[in-house]
Amino acid sequence: MSFESIREISLTVGEPTVADADIVVLGLHEKASLDGPAAQVDAASGGLLSGVLEIKDFKGEPNELLLLHPQPQGGPRRVLLVGLGEVPSLTVERIRQAAAVAARRCRDLGVSKAAFCLFGKGSTISAEDAAFAFAEGALLGSYQYVEYRTKDLDKIKVLKSLDVLVPDEAIRAAAAPGFQIGTRVAQAVNYVRTLANHPGNHATPSFLAAEATRIASEQGLGCRILDRAKMEEMGMGALLGVARGSNEPPRFIILEYHSGDEGAPTVAIVGKGLTFDSGGISIKPAAKMEEMKYDMCGGADVLGVMSILRDAGVRVNVIGAIPATENLSGGSAYKPGDILRSYSGKTIEVLNCDAEGRLILADALSYVVKTYKPAAIIDLATLTGAVLIALGHYGAGLLGNDDALIARIEDSSRRTGERVWRLPIWEEMGDHLKSDFADLKNIGDGSAGAGTIAAAAFLGNFVDGTPWAHLDIAGTAYWEKDRPYLPKGPSGFGVRLLVDLLRSWA
Ligand code: BES
Ligand code: MN
Ligand code: ZN
Repeated sequence: MSFESIREISLTVGEPTVADADIVVLGLHEKASLDGPAAQVDAASGGLLSGVLEIKDFKGEPNELLLLHPQPQGGPRRVLLVGLGEVPSLTVERIRQAAAVAARRCRDLGVSKAAFCLFGKGSTISAEDAAFAFAEGALLGSYQYVEYRTKDLDKIKVLKSLDVLVPDEAIRAAAAPGFQIGTRVAQAVNYVRTLANHPGNHATPSFLAAEATRIASEQGLGCRILDRAKMEEMGMGALLGVARGSNEPPRFIILEYHSGDEGAPTVAIVGKGLTFDSGGISIKPAAKMEEMKYDMCGGADVLGVMSILRDAGVRVNVIGAIPATENLSGGSAYKPGDILRSYSGKTIEVLNCDAEGRLILADALSYVVKTYKPAAIIDLATLTGAVLIALGHYGAGLLGNDDALIARIEDSSRRTGERVWRLPIWEEMGDHLKSDFADLKNIGDGSAGAGTIAAAAFLGNFVDGTPWAHLDIAGTAYWEKDRPYLPKGPSGFGVRLLVDLLRSWA
């Protein structure tokens, strides 16, 4: 498992004019006068920055970049200006983005050591929050997946060290906790991206199970892995039904984090771990089918979150569950018309083998609800193409049965910038999932539309009244377009949101 980002990131007290670095990065606000580190660099470079601002070659607009080469007079050889926008409108999202675009530019320049001075004066954002966002942005924006490359490895550019310079010890001490946790969270997101980038022939259910086992032993988590035989004994007919079409053995992965706090509530997170979705007998078109290796992004999110709960100081107990299988069309594959008996006891008529995510989640949700009786359960799944029609790659569909839980998730969404948008599950929207032959069918009447809601309504049958929220991440889990701290490819969407939710639960 390997990826590249910034190799070392640190926070120290220091001044840009004497920094031991190949490049100094200065964050500048729009319509603000030069002060602090920027004023120091300006003085050391004979007024280079004030000159540039005067002729308006740099305005300080969000994410604007300008590379300067001061005449060497003992100061830095390269200065990169990055715009932060106007002071009153500064947000943590803006810091995340500025850190990302600037760190990426440093990397692409091929330098190895960068010193950053980004902490402007006058904003209402605390040093802790700013440092959190900075570390996230820099590390997430610099992510590169290079594991399977064998040629021209020397051409891969990597920023070896990034040192954030702050003016004094008081600011350093205030910023340090945010910096540390932001770094850990970003590492977890980059880990999830790496899992997701793994092709289906490597990232199999057994591979995910091995990762879960490793994380459990490193983090002191409980771990239970159910194989096909065990699932048969337990009656997980929905997950097993999907798994029948593949020779790759399925796994049901359960991780348990005990916070150690007396009387702490238990929150469960469940992630769809479909390691390749061909559509099964209801086979998908060939074009872009390779993207269905990303159908395990919800499951990868769960592994990423479980891997940092200890470091993030989460006080609630957390159960992480991942139903993992391929969906193929081998000789024993489940077929349209088949009826599966789910772990809950409810029977499901299969009308479309490509609506497999809801089947494997049905068994996972009812197992978790029955075994742990959690205070809340949240699932993440690349569940429907329909959510891409509604929200594109911009935000995840959020659905559920509990307004308070939804509100918590919306709060975390605002803090982390991982966008969610609530969709309703109105009473009668599940009616068309009633089957003539079984309790339910896995797809409803196509004419009812609202495919994302239909899928969620189906899942709602398996939570037994537990407060539940569902995130449809089919659009947000990956995109082939670069954004400031989201390089093209899998995003790791959901990790930052869930870590924030769990940290702020009490
Ligand atoms: N994994 C897909 C959903 C998906 C589609 C994820 C596009 C990412 C991008 C899911 O298993 C699926 O195939 N859903 C079907 C459901 C339909 C058969 C009711 C869909 O959305 O087309
Ligand atoms: Mn499918
Ligand atoms: Zn799928």
